[in-house]
Parts: sequence; C-alpha cells; structure tokens
Amino acid sequence: MTGATKLTRRGLLRGFGAAPVIASCAGPSSGEAAAEAVSPADPLIDAVAIGPGLAPLDLRLNGAARTVEAAPQATLLALLRDQLAITGTKEVCDRGACGACNVLIDGEVRSACMTLAHDVAGREVTTVEGLATSGAPSPLQRAFVELDALQCGYCTSGMLISCSALLSRARGPLSRAQIQGAIAGNLCRCGCYEQVIAATLSAAGERSAL
Ligand code: FES
Ligand code: FES
Repeated sequence: MTGATKLTRRGLLRGFGAAPVIASCAGPSSGEAAAEAVSPADPLIDAVAIGPGLAPLDLRLNGAARTVEAAPQATLLALLRDQLAITGTKEVCDRGACGACNVLIDGEVRSACMTLAHDVAGREVTTVEGLATSGAPSPLQRAFVELDALQCGYCTSGMLISCSALLSRARGPLSRAQIQGAIAGNLCRCGCYEQVIAATLSAAGERSAL
C-alpha cells in the first residue's frame, strides 16, 4: 500500500471544500497559526493529498498484485477500461444506477463508476475477467452461455458479478427470491432476467452436486 491510500471520496470532497475555508480563515501570512487551529481530530489530518497529476497505488486485481497510476479524480471504471484495457466491466449510466460496471471489492459488489480508483488501494478487485479460472469460464459463466442469459451483453458482466457474489455467500439451496434480490440493481434492457435466474439456479445446482 502506498502513502496515498488514505484518501477517501469524503476526504477528497472535504479537501476541496474545506481547505479554502481554512486558508481564508488563516489569512495570507498565518500558516503556522492555521495549522495549530486545526484540531487533531479533524479528518483533514488523515487525508493524504495526492495529485494533481497521476499518483501510484497498489492493489490486487483479479488475483495479481498490481501497481498502477491514476489521477486523483479517476474512477475505478476509468482505470480499468481506459488505462488498463480491462474492458469486461461495462460503462452504461456512469452514475451508479444500472449495475453494468459492477465489480467485487474485497468480495463485495460495488459500482466501479462510483468508486475512486485511489479508494481501492490495498484492496482486492475482481472483474468479470477474474471469475474465470486459468482461462476456463466459471460454472456460472458457462450456465449464462448455455441458457442464453444474454442478448446484447451490456449488462452481462455486472449480472455475473452480482450472481457470483450471491453464489459465494449463499448457504443451502438458492431461491428465486434471493437471485431477484441480488440482481435488483442490474438493469437489462434486453429483458433476460428469467434466463439469468435460470442460469444462476443451474450453477448453484451444479455446485451443490459436487
Ligand atoms: S455504469 Fe456504473 S452503475 Fe451504470
Ligand atoms: S443482455 Fe442486453 S442489456 Fe442485458
């Protein structure tokens, strides 16, 4: 983990919003006094300034340790697609509303378009590419193909991430309601919901038969 990994979205926004206020209160020639005026409990103390250019961060990406560089304002989605050319994760709404950009961060489903790249420093990120093992599709990915759980494919990687997370945490037989809940944030304009549910039930059955 690098020294820049403490920056959070809240910290970034506070940094943009609060720093000028502190500066203006401090006056042009009272930098030391301003530093003393900041309480030790102030979140700005924990925020580490990065940028304005590219800054390095370490993460684990699809099982491999990576050191990459990203601008402070870059989203994880931009880092994946534009910088690293890992394009399985799709961009559709770019505002956290469709699920197309879902990835796993430390095993939890998250929208890559709503996550700053620097917020995943030191964390484990899994994209749809990382669901395969040694290049072989996972049982869930195979079931999606076999049961026609996609048409245009724009929602598919997000659907696979959501359903994979469900399969990872589910104990016992899987229900339709559980799958519907897992994909509640995944929009499919092609209307493949029934096939997605069928494929996920199939993969769950294959797993429980092992
Ligand atoms: S592209 Fe991220 S939620 Fe739609
Ligand atoms: S397969 Fe086209 S949006 Fe879902």
